[in-house]
Amino acid sequence: MSTATEHPTYNYKVVRQFAIMTVIWGIVGMTVGVLIAAQLVWPALNFDTPWLTYGRIRPLHTNAVIFAFGGSALFATSYYVVQRTCQTRLFSDGLAAFTFWGWQVVILAAAITLPLGLTSAKEYAELEWPIDILITIVWVAYAIVFLGTVKNRKTSHIYVGNWFYMAFIITVAVLHIVNSLEIPVTMWKSYSVYPGAVDAMVQWWYGHNAVGFFLTAGFLGMMYYFVPKQAERPIYSYRLSIVHFWALIATYMWAGGHHLHYSALPDWTQSVAMVMSLILLAPSWGGMINGMMTLSGAWHKLRTDPVLRFLVVSLSFYGMSTFEGPMMSIKTVNALSHNTDWTVGHVHAGALGWVAMISVGATYHMIPRLFGKAQMWSVSLINTHFWLATVGTVLYICAMWVNGILQGLMWRAVNEDGTLTYSFVEALEASHPGYFVRWLGGMFWVLGMVLMAYNTWQTVRKNSTAPAADVAPQVA
Ligand code: HEM
Ligand code: HEM
Repeated sequence: MSTATEHPTYNYKVVRQFAIMTVIWGIVGMTVGVLIAAQLVWPALNFDTPWLTYGRIRPLHTNAVIFAFGGSALFATSYYVVQRTCQTRLFSDGLAAFTFWGWQVVILAAAITLPLGLTSAKEYAELEWPIDILITIVWVAYAIVFLGTVKNRKTSHIYVGNWFYMAFIITVAVLHIVNSLEIPVTMWKSYSVYPGAVDAMVQWWYGHNAVGFFLTAGFLGMMYYFVPKQAERPIYSYRLSIVHFWALIATYMWAGGHHLHYSALPDWTQSVAMVMSLILLAPSWGGMINGMMTLSGAWHKLRTDPVLRFLVVSLSFYGMSTFEGPMMSIKTVNALSHNTDWTVGHVHAGALGWVAMISVGATYHMIPRLFGKAQMWSVSLINTHFWLATVGTVLYICAMWVNGILQGLMWRAVNEDGTLTYSFVEALEASHPGYFVRWLGGMFWVLGMVLMAYNTWQTVRKNSTAPAADVAPQVA
């Protein structure tokens, strides 16, 4: 078993900080998700208060789960993985500490400004210009720490996980800077430098690649380290991982136009985006299969190891959402799915099923090792968390599929004389049960995360010992 004490030369402090914040921001971000889900069931929960209204709290949810929860998981795992696979300490402790505190300030600034209604109104890039500048500075520091560590490596080659992390860090820097170019008019108001349809195109070039590089490439870096480690098997095919990397990187950039089908964007750009999205299925599944097949000869471990279950189920959801995405990018399918809850279901198949599941699995893997413990305090609590998360995700996405298709069909239904068959309110009423089920699924997830926080607390406490009844598998 490898523990922190075996590697006194690594900087685990910053990894511990980010790992703990992953759990905390996970609870916060998902609780806000549950609140907005509840507001859609019981509108009275808006409390007639501007800063608690759906329109202001929704971007708070997306920023908290993507950048605070997902971001902390990416910082924690990338700093952990790069040190262990390059067999060297982080390039700079000072800069690494700066990225931790800088990122927390960005999150707090978001948590204050978004409820106040201060926003640049670009999805996933809502934060106003002073915060944008801080993000850029923190991100450049992150790139220096990560790339500097790779440069100082004691190994001859760069492990494929690090390739994915590097692509994620460099691309997110480019996306953020280009999409956030804006003209400040006051301290908390700016306008994009891009006009009209160009602004929309830049925004969704950013938005889609935020999915591709923030919510996918970085987490694939995670997958390439934690799946083989937890399964105690080498990655199924190193050659496939290289093909996977280059094919994914080359394809993602072209697909953003599928967010703007039937819009003012030139028709040919929409068609290119559709074709590229369909092609994207191949590298996505190549990566998923590579992860899955790593378990060859180790499938029996799933019976006793809930951490491995988190990692493997996350790959299944990755496969599912990257099949669904290309289907939704077909223009005729998008004509039905766009603006409906189907999109929201697809988002959470990726966000909860893939991003959150793999982050939770990787964090459970790291915590005992970071705090010098043999294993997590309670393995059965991890198992309970696993089932809450899985059932929660399934409830969420099934409810949204039903709602999405129902809304799409009701909106497009026309009578013989050409008038609409249903009013908008009728489709909304029909969506109500689905909204309730989605809220319930969210509650399952939050409960699971609270169990994780308790288990983590018990694990890191001094002299912690596992509860007597807890039969633990060997987590090497
Ligand atoms: C092959 C991979 C994928 C393709 C081709 C794809 C395609 C699509 C399409 C066509 C839409 C609907 C656009 C619209 O009608 O407005 C969409 C929305 C979205 N997808 Fe995916 N998707 C993929 C994978 C993923 C994954 C893995 C995630 C999450 C981790 C994800 C997150 C999102 C998000 C957040 C949106 C909603 C954007 C918004 O309107 O705010 N996608 N995707
Ligand atoms: C307890 C778990 C969660 C609940 C209950 C929840 C709930 C919600 C709700 C109600 C919306 C608004 C949907 C709408 O406007 O119709 C939403 C949007 C969104 N959530 Fe979550 N969420 C959860 C977890 C997450 C996680 C972990 C992530 C990312 C890692 C995430 C990413 C997003 C994104 C990207 C959107 C915008 C989707 C779009 O514009 O199409 N959510 N969520």
